[in-house]
Amino acid sequence: MTNNPESEVSESQIAVHWREEAYYQPPPKFVAQANAADPAIFARFAEDKFPECFTEYADLLTWDEKWHTTLDTSNPPFWKWFVGGKLNASYNCVDRHAQASPDKTAIIWVPELETDEHVRISYGELHRQVNEFAAVLRDFAGLQAGDRVTLHMPMVPELAVAMLACARLGVVHSQVFGGFSGNACGTRIADSGSRVLITMDGYYRAGGITDHKVKADEALEEAARQGQEVDKVLVWRRHAGQYASSTPMAPGRDFFVDELLAEHAGAIVEPVSMPSDAPLFLMYTSGTTGRPKGAQHSTGGYLSYVAGTSKYYQDIHPDDVYWCMADIGWITGHSYIVYGPLALGTTTVIYEGVPNYPDGGRPWRIAKELGVNIFHTSPTAIRMLRKVGPEEPKKYDYHFKHMTTVGEPIEPEVWRWYHSEVGKGEAAIVDTWWQTETGGFLGSTLPALQPMKPGSCGPGALGIYPVVYDEDANDVPAGSGRAGNICIRNPWPGIMQTIWGQPERFIEVYYAKYNRDPDSKDWHDWPYFAGDGAVQAADGYFRILGRVDDVINVAGHRLGTKELESAALTVPEVAEAAAVPVMDDIRGRIVEMYISLKPGVAAEGMEAKVTHAIEVEIGKIARPKNVWIVADMPKTRSGKIMRRVIASVSNFTDVGDVTTLANPEVVETIRHHVQSTKVAKGELPRELSEAEYEEIAKYGAAE
Ligand code: WTA
Repeated sequence: MTNNPESEVSESQIAVHWREEAYYQPPPKFVAQANAADPAIFARFAEDKFPECFTEYADLLTWDEKWHTTLDTSNPPFWKWFVGGKLNASYNCVDRHAQASPDKTAIIWVPELETDEHVRISYGELHRQVNEFAAVLRDFAGLQAGDRVTLHMPMVPELAVAMLACARLGVVHSQVFGGFSGNACGTRIADSGSRVLITMDGYYRAGGITDHKVKADEALEEAARQGQEVDKVLVWRRHAGQYASSTPMAPGRDFFVDELLAEHAGAIVEPVSMPSDAPLFLMYTSGTTGRPKGAQHSTGGYLSYVAGTSKYYQDIHPDDVYWCMADIGWITGHSYIVYGPLALGTTTVIYEGVPNYPDGGRPWRIAKELGVNIFHTSPTAIRMLRKVGPEEPKKYDYHFKHMTTVGEPIEPEVWRWYHSEVGKGEAAIVDTWWQTETGGFLGSTLPALQPMKPGSCGPGALGIYPVVYDEDANDVPAGSGRAGNICIRNPWPGIMQTIWGQPERFIEVYYAKYNRDPDSKDWHDWPYFAGDGAVQAADGYFRILGRVDDVINVAGHRLGTKELESAALTVPEVAEAAAVPVMDDIRGRIVEMYISLKPGVAAEGMEAKVTHAIEVEIGKIARPKNVWIVADMPKTRSGKIMRRVIASVSNFTDVGDVTTLANPEVVETIRHHVQSTKVAKGELPRELSEAEYEEIAKYGAAE
């Protein structure tokens, strides 16, 4: 952490030097049809038009009652947008399009097995499915507005149907990424106070069907341990009438959704008109403590923001075929697979499986077959597809007008492959920087109006005013070459409302650091602290360097070091644990664990135990690359584990000054053991960028 007295280098003192990349201009053909092609848009969203500028986004929606106050700042930093307005998110994403063009395709679902046909769901059909499932939720499960429901679903259209059915009733959904473990799901059930879990029996991943329902049983056990009883588990079946799981259905608790739907066939459920600031969903994310944070998103502000940014930054028109290859279990999928595209009435693609199944040409075959013209993915997926099939895109006759990258910094050479090979030089690209907490994009170029610069997200999005502060809240000027903490000076409609059940933590994590006066009602005194390091070039473009807190971004997914360490500590023999990031060519960062054992415990088998514990507590995505058993951790005199030192060891960088440690002698032993083992395994270090060196050097001490 940057403000950690134990670390000598603070982010804001780092001078970052890199080559300025040349601009790429958006293709004229793209510009000619773009939603935001008129530069007058900048004046409409100029700072003197704030907050009224955002009514342009709200006007994309159909409101039951219009708002009387655009932005209410009476209780900072709990901002309220479009106050007095009423609307229903499901109505906006389904009904209004089903009325206007019932046969238009809303969702195209692509199953992972290539031999399976894709499934087209029209807006009319989506309306029927959402109504029937809403009837199940209301009449069978007894849910009503304000209740929370946990979803633990894979990438199937039933997930979108379940979300929209909740939204129809004003029920707050909390979708947990399908790859998370049962325990991780259980923790989120307990935190949100859900009485109902919606899940699926199994799904295809890398060619095989997984047993997913088993996680529901684990989740319920964990939730009960944390004091939350679940009375109904609604189980969708991947293949109607067949049950893919090995676990029994608990009588009176577990129910097959297809059977319940049959009892509600043809049901119509009127959308419940919700206040603009009613919560729409929770999305859990990692932070610096072990307890995950439930980012609570609003109905009116959030939906306006994702509709507006989908229109201008994703350039979605009603006739596009738009494919965001993210998982709906993350914020990207909520905002830019489900809510944004459907609010605009376009066709959104949902793909069940992994991008490289059965080979690296799969995404491009899907694109060709479905006529996808807007494509959206992460640097990790791009790096992986480039590695497994650099020549594949050429083989398929598809044409993207627009592409997005999201979730992590992208290396300029990877960006260039994306541009020239995937995009065939024909697509405008946006590198969108944002977060679970922010609902939608914060930093991006406007695709037709601002040139692209590989490795930089661009300036603040419309109506978003970022600033880079040093540790003392001084502006770090554009073009200074210095990095600092990127903050947003103003509120915006997509910002989370609070952390579910932890309002003090909301203030503490995002606002306390740079708040000028806790009693102020003036939003200017409440900059939003994003937790990312960034540098602003002279042209105003931001280059995002990565997290400044103890969060590791693995393949675009945030993992808290505390969560990893707590998971390792569930192994009874483990005395101490520290998690560090290792630079990885494909996944950006991966996790390595350092473990010390209790006295008298043999090291035999402990690596596997720790790995297993992490899979059980978090999920396979958090699986460490290596678990190093050490006799003693390098510690400060106050007893904190110096993660910076072990992170340097794992990344083969200079361990720096260790003379102030309580036990400097252990460093060389650890270094020798870890690095010689890595060399023997062929895990050789790669060349690091200056920013990566600095990231390791500033890595915080564990408590
Ligand atoms: C990182 C994902 C560089 C950043 C939408 C942020 C990025 C965290 C970018 C949020 C980008 C996201 N360039 N870094 N374009 N987009 N990040 O909550 O560190 O899963 O704080 O939201 O990902 O991750 P989250």
